Amino acid sequence: MDAFQIAGGRPLAGEVDVAGAKNAALPIMAAAILADGPVRVGSVPDLIDVRTLLDLLSGLGVWARRNETGAVCLDNVDPSRVVADASLVQQMRASFCVLGPLLARRGRAVVPLPGGCQIGDRPIDLHLRGLTALGAEIAVLGGHVIATAKRLTGATVMMSGPRGSTVTGTMNVLSAATLAHGETLIAGAATEPEVVDLGKFLNTLGARIEGLGTSLIRVQGVEHLGGGEHTIIPDRIEAATLLIAAAITGGSATVRGARADHMSAVLAALAEMGVTIQVRGDSVTAIGAIRPRSIGLVADPYPHLPTDVQSQFTALASVALGRSRIEDHVFPDRFAHVAELNRMNARIRRSRNGAIVEGVGELCGGIVTASDLRASAALVLAGLTASGSTTVRHVHHLDRGYERLEAKLTQLGARITRVKDSSASEVHDSSFATA
Ligand code: UD1
Repeated sequence: MDAFQIAGGRPLAGEVDVAGAKNAALPIMAAAILADGPVRVGSVPDLIDVRTLLDLLSGLGVWARRNETGAVCLDNVDPSRVVADASLVQQMRASFCVLGPLLARRGRAVVPLPGGCQIGDRPIDLHLRGLTALGAEIAVLGGHVIATAKRLTGATVMMSGPRGSTVTGTMNVLSAATLAHGETLIAGAATEPEVVDLGKFLNTLGARIEGLGTSLIRVQGVEHLGGGEHTIIPDRIEAATLLIAAAITGGSATVRGARADHMSAVLAALAEMGVTIQVRGDSVTAIGAIRPRSIGLVADPYPHLPTDVQSQFTALASVALGRSRIEDHVFPDRFAHVAELNRMNARIRRSRNGAIVEGVGELCGGIVTASDLRASAALVLAGLTASGSTTVRHVHHLDRGYERLEAKLTQLGARITRVKDSSASEVHDSSFATA
């Protein structure tokens, strides 16, 4: 396992390109199962999760390769395969997105219950309820979802649960409905830009979807979908993480190729914390204040602040002037980063649904352990601003969702190196000795 070694306290400066959105790329690649011709998807980030999905799709009879331009090409060569590999599905929750496409195109799907980041309770009842409404017969047996349907039939389905609309649940039902007989109305649909991107991709293949980006999506089922080409939208979570990195170091960074219109809540929160934001075309610049201001933040479904940036904002608030209150209404238990940030001298305590953050003047470097994808990002951000040296262990969580984050931060002037975890404590001790 790898760790990051970070020498903190250096303001970032410079420009960096954003990658394609992980959370759009994965469901779009899974939806290629629906296509009767070859599919080419551009701007797919080079991530562990993408490689895991490529392996999963290969096992499902999809010829799947990344070409020399970085695009991923997919072609269904053996549609008889309907059983998803358990060891791969358990590595990544997004692989559950093969369920709807397999069911709609191949009539049967056997998909193990998903794994993924440990960020609290993550049920799949809304996925199953939605597909059942379209006429699928579904059983959960021995840790597998077994779904069958001769041909799905359009219906009205509700994708909203107690914590808002489900993103990948909406994607599973949306994909499946494209080949259903008749019209499907998806009420309470997730409005995230990644859902819109999936819908646009499906329309490119010949689907008839309207209402994308609203909570009511209308799908007229078609007989078949063809091949096609699509380019993935920029990753708004990676872009936000890089802007927060600039802010937490009191430096500046320009993220090129970003979609500011997908990041309104993030940019508003940064501005409220005293960070100067400049948007010029597809470039977004953050210029950090000497010290950020405290804030009250709530993570909620789009267009509100994404839960996927809650931990990074918690890190930023930990060095703000005053007390911040941060809540996560999507995943209320997604606060594993709090204990680790406190090891670095942050003063954060858990509250119901969230955390109270008493800003401190300076974080101190230390050895911290990443527990999930976005919590890892928060620890890296904390390491960038902390005095002395920080070791972030278990960065394989980070590699699932960030394409060469250390290279991008290095490009912005950070001093960050990847080391083998076994040597991390040793390196850490010696760097403290010389600090
Ligand atoms: C997706 C994102 C993830 C992000 C999350 C919320 C991908 C691959 N992952 O995850 O990065 O953090 O959206 O924006 O796109 N729920 C139910 N029943 C269900 C499904 C979900 O009650 O059947 C609940 C969940 O527990 C959670 C809320 O709904 O409280 C939202 O979850 P959901 O949108 O489904 O998250 P994912 O799609 O798994």
